[in-house]
Amino acid sequence: MITIPELKTERLIVSVLTPDDYEFLVKYESDNSSHLSQWQPTRIAEYFGVEETQKRVKLNFKNFQLGSSISLVAFDKSKSEIICLCTFSNVVYGAFQACNLGYSISEKNQGKGLMFEMLQASILYVFTEYNLHRIMANYIPSNVRSETLLDKLGFQKEGLAKSYLKIDGTWQDHVLTSKINPSQIDI
Ligand SMILES: CC(C)(COP(=O)(O)OP(=O)(O)OC[C@H]1O[C@@H](n2cnc3c(N)ncnc32)[C@H](O)[C@@H]1OP(=O)(O)O)[C@@H](O)C(=O)NCCC(=O)NCCS
Repeated sequence: MITIPELKTERLIVSVLTPDDYEFLVKYESDNSSHLSQWQPTRIAEYFGVEETQKRVKLNFKNFQLGSSISLVAFDKSKSEIICLCTFSNVVYGAFQACNLGYSISEKNQGKGLMFEMLQASILYVFTEYNLHRIMANYIPSNVRSETLLDKLGFQKEGLAKSYLKIDGTWQDHVLTSKINPSQIDI
């Protein structure tokens, strides 16, 4: 049986939402909708409603159990709210041993180094527990905060993909970056 992580950093507790925890995500997404919309695909309003969010949390938990996608959330130390979150999706094993990384932080907690703190712990967890070789993360060139963050985490720029993802209603170019696991074990 898979163990639910509880990673403790200086200011955060990083874990996985169980299906019963969906209300934390409803609040995070509702409080931060205008802050996050310009960096996300356009969604219909129902997507953020209680029912759909409940379904998404359930699906995320199932995918976590399957090892196909790892959605992590970082709580404050009293576990009262989500501060930031990240997802290691499209996990592929075998010769590729890789995944994609996406992340966001609540508007009020931006600029405090908390996203970095979460990702540093989460990347170590994913590299160690899943023995992945590569994590890929991509950003729109104007997303300077994302560029700085990935650079600090040791992601290397690999190119520019034209018209790569439909974000906020428009196909947008993305800078492609990756981080290679320095301690991956060949099995
Ligand atoms: C991208 C994003 C996650 C970056 O968040 P962030 O808070 O800027 O990232 P970091 O955790 O690296 O914090 C960096 C800032 O904290 C400061 N900082 C660093 N360590 C710190 C510490 N220990 N204590 C206090 N502040 C600290 C830095 O000086 C920097 O401040 P600055 O932005 O004023 O220069 C955030 O802007 C976001 O959620 N954007 C919307 C969603 C998004 O773009 N997702 C990614 C799509 S590719």
